[in-house]
Order: sequence, then structure tokens, then C-alpha cells
Amino acid sequence: MNKMSCKFKSRAENEAFARTIALSFLMPLNAAAEEMMEIRTLVSEGVTNAIIHGYEGNREKMVKLEIGYDDHGLITIIITDKGKGISDIDQALEPLYTSKKSSERSGMGMTIMQTFSDSFDIISAENEGCTIVIQKQLHVNLSAAE
Ligand SMILES: Nc1ncnc2c1ncn2[C@@H]1O[C@H](COP(=O)(O)OP(=O)(O)OP(=O)(O)O)[C@@H](O)[C@H]1O
Ligand SMILES: [Mg+2]
Repeated sequence: MNKMSCKFKSRAENEAFARTIALSFLMPLNAAAEEMMEIRTLVSEGVTNAIIHGYEGNREKMVKLEIGYDDHGLITIIITDKGKGISDIDQALEPLYTSKKSSERSGMGMTIMQTFSDSFDIISAENEGCTIVIQKQLHVNLSAAE
């Protein structure tokens, strides 16, 4: 199992940093372009949620990103914030549900993340932050990477 972790401040500009390092780290897997695009979206939506919902615009908090993959191309992505948390996880997962109707959120982020994941878990409670654990099985040829 190969893995990495990093932490960065809860600033919108760091969303691009997060998805770029995610894709760089996974480069040796030689994943298909479509799978890489899905991973990019998973990281982007998860990190954006941590910044705008978890920390609600506080630019000084830290978001943690952890990524691992095993010899069979099973990828694990964990995104953690220590922000306000989610009191009703079922509601948060409903397509089109957003707690920020006034801004231009569509409420589709988590629905899209579930579609692109093989397993998707949320560990969260009100005022206790939020951790999302994503697993995605790549269809890779590891020998081609060597
Ligand atoms: N890290 C988080 N901390 C606290 N609440 C969260 C977090 N992530 C998601 N939520 C809650 O879950 C809701 C649904 O999230 P989802 O990503 O599906 O939609 P959205 O972020 O509101 O809109 P979109 O992703 O389409 O821009 C959010 O509106 C928010 O209330
Ligand atoms: Mg979202």
C-alpha cells in the first residue's frame, strides 16, 4: 500500500492544489483519463465542501487530505475538516439538498461523489467536523507502470 497525506488552509485557492497533488500521486497507476477525471471531481467536491460548509469561509482552518492505493488499484481518499459537522447525514446526501440555497450551490456534490465512488462513507456529527472516506477501484495495469 502506498499512501500520502497533507494539510492545507481552508482557502478556495487550495482546492486546485488538492486535486493537482491527488492526480500527481496517482500518476503511477496509469488510470484511464475518465477515471482520473472522476478522482479529480471527488477531491474537488470534498475539499470544497470542507472549506465552504465545514469552515464556512474561515480561511485559517486546516483541511486534511489522505490518499492511498494498494497493489490492485483500490484507491482510498479521506478528506477531513474539524468544522461545524453535519447533523443529518441522510438529508445531506439527498440529491439537490443544500444548506446554502442563497449562494449558487446545486446540492449535487455528494450525489456526484457517490456516483463516482465504489464506497462512500461520512463520519460526522454537529460541531464535530466531517470526515469522508471514499473508495474507488481502478481498472489498472500496474505492470505497465513499471
Ligand atoms: N464538510 C462538511 N461540513 C458540514 N456540512 C457539510 C459538509 N459537506 C457537506 N455538508 C452539508 O451537506 C450538504 C450537501 O452537500 P453537497 O456537496 O451535496 O451540496 P452543496 O455543497 O450544498 O452544493 P454543490 O456541491 O452542488 O455545490 C451541504 O449543503 C451541507 O449542508
Ligand atoms: Mg458540495
